Amino acid sequence: MKTLTAVDARDMAAIHAQSFDRSWDALEMAAHTQKDMCFGIDVDGALAAFIIMSRAADQAEVLTIATAVQARRKGLGRALLMEAALELKSRDVTDLFLEVAEDNAAAIALYRTVGFDAIGRRPAYYRRENGRVAALTFSKKL
Ligand SMILES: CC(C)(COP(=O)(O)OP(=O)(O)OC[C@H]1O[C@@H](n2cnc3c(N)ncnc32)[C@H](O)[C@@H]1OP(=O)(O)O)[C@@H](O)C(=O)NCCC(=O)NCCS
Repeated sequence: MKTLTAVDARDMAAIHAQSFDRSWDALEMAAHTQKDMCFGIDVDGALAAFIIMSRAADQAEVLTIATAVQARRKGLGRALLMEAALELKSRDVTDLFLEVAEDNAAAIALYRTVGFDAIGRRPAYYRRENGRVAALTFSKKL
């Protein structure tokens, strides 16, 4: 796992665009590398997965996580979350939170495999083309 900087912003944006309907561009990614914790994993010399987390005192939140389409189901998402959790713990963060759309089965399965528990539900939180979908809030003690 490597720390991402503004140099990686374009690659982060490209993976994000493959992964979400409402994607964040390279400028936004560059801003995140300045103010948040951004980590990635390379495969064959190119960024293949990344995570962005914000921190406030002893709590942190996953703002986004994505794996490039061709690199999915190879354990990169799990590796990122586990290594990021260790890194946060070493920086005295005690709890990690995230929100995920209730219909995102892949992400929910991933979070459960690395020890996140569902702690809440926000109805109609995300907008979809044909309506709205709830967000589930997950947390993990570090
Ligand atoms: C969710 C996402 C980050 C998972 O990344 P990944 O690198 O493919 O995940 P991993 O290979 O580490 O998967 C780890 C485990 O999560 C679960 N999982 C991952 N993808 C899954 C899928 N499509 N269906 C069911 N379970 C899945 C499995 O338990 C998997 O373990 P296994 O492969 O041994 O069965 C990836 O699918 C992605 O980028 N999706 C689009 C962006 C997104 O939805 N991000 C989360 C927003 S909250």
